[in-house]
Amino acid sequence: MDPDKLAALSLRVWSYKQGEVVALMVHLGDQLGLYKAMAGEGPLDAMQLAQLTGLDARWLLEWLRCQGAAGLLETEDGEMFELTEEGAEVLANETGSTWFAAGAFQGVVAAPDTIRRLMEAFRTGQGLSYDQLGPSAAHGVERLTAPWTKLVLVPEVLPGLRGVEERLEQGARVADVGCGAGVALIAMASAYPRSTFEGFDPSMHAVDLARQKVKEAGLANVELHCCPAAALPADATYDLILTLDCLHDMPQPGEAIRAIRRSIKPDGTWLIKDIRSAPTWQGNLRNPMLALMYGTSVATCMSSALSEPDGAGLGTLGLHPELAEQMCRDAGFSYFVVHDFHDPANLYYEVRP
Ligand SMILES: C[S@@+](CC[C@H](N)C(=O)[O-])C[C@H]1O[C@@H](n2cnc3c(N)ncnc32)[C@H](O)[C@@H]1O
Repeated sequence: MDPDKLAALSLRVWSYKQGEVVALMVHLGDQLGLYKAMAGEGPLDAMQLAQLTGLDARWLLEWLRCQGAAGLLETEDGEMFELTEEGAEVLANETGSTWFAAGAFQGVVAAPDTIRRLMEAFRTGQGLSYDQLGPSAAHGVERLTAPWTKLVLVPEVLPGLRGVEERLEQGARVADVGCGAGVALIAMASAYPRSTFEGFDPSMHAVDLARQKVKEAGLANVELHCCPAAALPADATYDLILTLDCLHDMPQPGEAIRAIRRSIKPDGTWLIKDIRSAPTWQGNLRNPMLALMYGTSVATCMSSALSEPDGAGLGTLGLHPELAEQMCRDAGFSYFVVHDFHDPANLYYEVRP
C-alpha cells in the first residue's frame, strides 16, 4: 500500500463529509434568510447580523465561522464576515440571478423536523440534546468514533498513561462518562476481564444501543446508567475515568468536572479525549476540516451544549488545551499532561488529583 495515496484518498473522502455538513449550513442560512440579510451590507459581526435578523448571536457566530472556513463568506479574523457581490449572486439573489444556487440545498442530510428545530434554536438560543436528534444520532456517533476507539484506545492510549495498564490488568473500577453507544466500554471490558466498567450517558438512545452491544458481546463486567456526569457517585470510587469526545457537548462541563473530581480515587487517572483546537481563529485555520467542525458544532455539539438553560455552549472547538487545563485545575486536579497519539481529530489529556 502507498501511504501517500492512502492519506490523499482519506482526505478526499473526509472532504465529501465536510461538503455534506456545509450543505446543511447553507440550507439553514437559506431558510433563515441569512444570505439575503447580509447581501449589500458589507462586513458584519454576529451581533450586527443578530440585530438585522432577530436571531441569537452565539448561534450566528458559529454559523458565520463555518461559512468563513468554507470560503463562502470573506473574513480575516473570524469576527467580521462579508457576503461579497459574487457571493450574493450565488447565495442570496433568488429572483434575479441564474447563478442562484442556495435553493438546491433543500432537503439535505438532516430530517426536516430536525432542521425545523435547529432553526427554532437560532431564534430561542436553546439547542437540542443528542436524544432530541432521534435514535439514529447515537448510531451515527458510534460509526464515527468506533475506528479509533476500537483500534487505538487499548493498544496505544491506555498503555501511554502512567501505571494505568497494570492497574486494569490487576482489576480496577472504571467509569466511561458520556459513553455513547459503549464502544470504549466493550473494547476495555474485553481486554481487561478482571476490571469492572460503568458507562454513564443521559442519552436513552445511546444507552439502549450500548446495552444491546454489551449483551451481544457477552460481557458480564459492564454496567450502564442512563444519567449525566453530575450523577456520578460522590465518594472517591474510580481508579480510571474516561470522557471521550464529550466534555465540549455537555451543557455544564464545569459541574461534570467537579463530579469527576469527587468520584475519582486520590491516585486515580482521568483520560480526556477532546477535539484538537486552538484558542484563536488563526490557530484553528491549520485544521483542513474547520468548516466541517463548525458545521457539526451547530448541528450537534454546540446544540447539545446549549440544550439546557444557561448551557456553556462550548461546541466542537470550544475545549482547547488551555481551557481544559484551567477547568481541571479550578476543580482541584493538580496534574495535567497533553498526549498526542497522532489522532488527526483529537488530543488526549492525562489528568490526576
Ligand atoms: C460525541 S458523543 C461521544 C460518545 C462516546 N464517548 C464516543 O466516543 O463514541 C457525546 C456524548 O456525550 C453525551 N453527553 C451529553 N451531555 C452529557 C452529560 N451532561 N453527561 C454525560 N454525557 C453527556 C451525549 O449524550 C453523547 O452520547
